Amino acid sequence: MKEKQTVLITGGGSGIGLALAKKFLANNNTVIITGRNLSKLEKVKIELPQIHIFQSDVTNDKDVKELAENLEKDFSGIDVLINNAGIMNLLDAGAANNDLQEQLNEIEINYNSPIRMLHHFLVQLKKSKNAVLINVSSGLAYVTFSQAPVYSGTKAALHFWTQAIRPQLKLHNIRVVELLPPVVDTKLAHDADLKDQKLKPMPAEQLANIFWKDYMKGKDEIIPGISKQLKFMSRLAPEFIFKQLNKEPIPEKK
Ligand SMILES: NC(=O)c1ccc[n+]([C@@H]2O[C@H](COP(=O)([O-])OP(=O)(O)OC[C@H]3O[C@@H](n4cnc5c(N)ncnc54)[C@H](OP(=O)(O)O)[C@@H]3O)[C@@H](O)[C@H]2O)c1
Repeated sequence: MKEKQTVLITGGGSGIGLALAKKFLANNNTVIITGRNLSKLEKVKIELPQIHIFQSDVTNDKDVKELAENLEKDFSGIDVLINNAGIMNLLDAGAANNDLQEQLNEIEINYNSPIRMLHHFLVQLKKSKNAVLINVSSGLAYVTFSQAPVYSGTKAALHFWTQAIRPQLKLHNIRVVELLPPVVDTKLAHDADLKDQKLKPMPAEQLANIFWKDYMKGKDEIIPGISKQLKFMSRLAPEFIFKQLNKEPIPEKK
């Protein structure tokens, strides 16, 4: 990838998205990040003045359309779309008082929105000479995690969608990459208390370094740390690895 690229990262104001943003910036690309919380994005802009910020909710069709129009106008379109925005809710599907809207919203952010983003940015990607779509799924796309049932479903769906569209978009010269992170030290992992799962979270910067090396090598599935073991074990001993990951299927009440 020799040419400078214009890179859009959803949810780039924190965690994995921000670490990826820093990597692309350090390699002389133009980087645009989005999120719902404007003051969070503004803080990033103070730290990284060369970054571009847009308040935009991936679940809001109007927001995404406007974002696409603005980026076409201001940057003549993007070359790289990174579908990174995501949330993770721990949930007991057997509990009587679950919030249905919250569960549907998790699907909307994690799965429907990458489809929405591609829909509105396809014209720009097709126009680019070095277009890349990068979807951030999860190692949990290989082995489901009972404590986060909706999340696990969305990540498995994102994984399959990514695999399905790869040969299709190749016909339009759009490279499709999937990053399947292990537990990473971010707000998402802290809020879900994933550190209690006895898995040492990987620093986001380390994840971004692994991503960058594999991305530059031309790998289309980037599987850092324990995600690699999850993939391997899901083929070799699926019942064993399922039991290992789901010794405590019900999340602790907070
Ligand atoms: N951390 C892990 O252990 C881990 C492991 C595997 C995969 N992942 C995946 O990595 C991705 C990034 O997560 P992270 O760990 O870096 O968590 P994070 O720090 O909480 O980042 C998530 C980002 O998504 C943004 N976001 C959430 N909903 C959004 C919406 N509707 N529209 C636009 N932006 C939205 C958030 O910003 P606002 O709140 O301002 O909107 C936030 O900046 C997610 O897809 C996650 O599933 C994480």
